[in-house]
Amino acid sequence: MATMTALNSKVAEFTSTPKQMFIDGKFVDALSGKRFATYNPATGESITTVPEAGKEDVDLAVQVARKAFDGGPWPKTKPAERSRLLHKLADLIEENIEELTQMETLDNGVPLEGAKNFVMASVGHLRYYAGWPSIIKGDTVPNNIPGELFNYTRREPIGVCGQIIPWNSPIINAVMKIAAPVACGNTVVLKTAEQTPLSGVRLAELIQEAGFPDGVVNIISGFGSTAGAALTEHLGVDKIAFTGSTEVGKEVMRSSAVNVKKVSLELGGKSANIIFADADYDQAIANAANAIFWNSGQVCCAGSRLFVERKIYDRFVSDLVEYSKNFRVGNGFNPESVLGPLVSKEQLERVNRYRDLAKQEGSEVLEGGSGDEKEISSGYFVKPTVLANVTNDMCVAQEEIFGPVVGALPFETIDEVVELANQTQYGLGGGVCTTDVRKAHRVAHAMRTGNVWVNTYNVIDATSPFGGYKQSGIGRENGSAAIDMYTEIKNVWVNLD
Ligand code: NAI
Ligand code: MG
Repeated sequence: MATMTALNSKVAEFTSTPKQMFIDGKFVDALSGKRFATYNPATGESITTVPEAGKEDVDLAVQVARKAFDGGPWPKTKPAERSRLLHKLADLIEENIEELTQMETLDNGVPLEGAKNFVMASVGHLRYYAGWPSIIKGDTVPNNIPGELFNYTRREPIGVCGQIIPWNSPIINAVMKIAAPVACGNTVVLKTAEQTPLSGVRLAELIQEAGFPDGVVNIISGFGSTAGAALTEHLGVDKIAFTGSTEVGKEVMRSSAVNVKKVSLELGGKSANIIFADADYDQAIANAANAIFWNSGQVCCAGSRLFVERKIYDRFVSDLVEYSKNFRVGNGFNPESVLGPLVSKEQLERVNRYRDLAKQEGSEVLEGGSGDEKEISSGYFVKPTVLANVTNDMCVAQEEIFGPVVGALPFETIDEVVELANQTQYGLGGGVCTTDVRKAHRVAHAMRTGNVWVNTYNVIDATSPFGGYKQSGIGRENGSAAIDMYTEIKNVWVNLD
């Protein structure tokens, strides 16, 4: 058995003291003095504590973000300077990559290799948006009004953005809520997830070191029903961007109505991954496994409904379980682990409830994976699980499980599978595996989802829009779509007569 990777001395030092949150360029405690612990899900042990922001801390953070926006430095900062700072932050993350990687593994559980991907994706994301400030521009608009009227548009920042993120990929979630809005000239108050506040604290240190003006980015730690709700209700916040459950997303929309905040939501999913009999078989097995088991299935666009053409269904299901035996489940610091623990005891209980429910609903629960039982018994681990003989009306086929659990359903025709795939309240992702190019595009076009992957899965990049149809969300992150989302269009008419 490979030995566990040793804890980096910088991480050991960082976690040896209580952490603070970042408001107005300074590290501070909550005004109430309250704190809460964050835990290592591989062991259940407490790592350190962070401040528990209350309404009054949110008020303060919004106030300083307003000051940095209204007549403040940020919207007037020249584009080249905004680019320089975003690149600088990317450089600093790159310089601290090992340390940040270990912090993610410690706090979230994701194995080191996956954690490193989150950190590298954060660097790529910042560099992509560092390219934007100089090219965010309006149009001159030909028009039909009599006389000589010059008409043009400007893209202006919206103001203070309240950003709320979940725990499933903490550092990239945070960076995705900072880079685009800041590139556009907005200021930000970001609340990290209560399960995984650690990398956000370190990110704030790097933001300070990069030299962003005070108040442009504020990062607070706290709970959803208090700090999160205070942010969504706040009259000083102009836009809310939320990633998390559909249930809370609806609540966020309701409370944002108080001052008609611009709202973008990236919510849950129950994405269909469709395997045709003509697919490259081995590639399809690997895709189906990656689609649901990557990050232990704690992925909003996870391929959690696996539709397999009936003539290969039995073989495919049993080969998928067999293939998943290559996936070692264990502590993320063990370099051989492929699946880490789920993020928390609550999430473990939730996923186990669904595994029990699957049996009650009449599906067959097939467990794969491998691992050292002693290592697994200490934390919140779930082995890769395939539910066979699922029908689309079962709860396990309709509700988001958010764990390494996939329901496998047989189908016969393209029309049938498209209809079944779309029979869900969600519309985030979808996959299709086939070697027939016509089938691939036909299905991709027919899926009512924001993202479709053909002969691959879970590919997400800063360059390309990501988001959901139906109850999977509103708006698109990444690419130019995020620039649109974080700017207002102003139309200016000038009478030249
Ligand atoms: P959640 O939606 O409760 O939490 C996500 C974020 O929202 C956290 O920062 C939380 O503090 C905040 N929040 C919670 N209640 C709030 C409120 N009333 N106002 C403002 N902010 C609030 O998700 P949770 O409880 O961590 O996970 C439950 C389920 O949600 C998961 O099992 C999964 O199905 C789904 N989920 C989906 C995610 C996605 O990426 N689409 C990410 C995380 C969870
Ligand atoms: Mg934790």
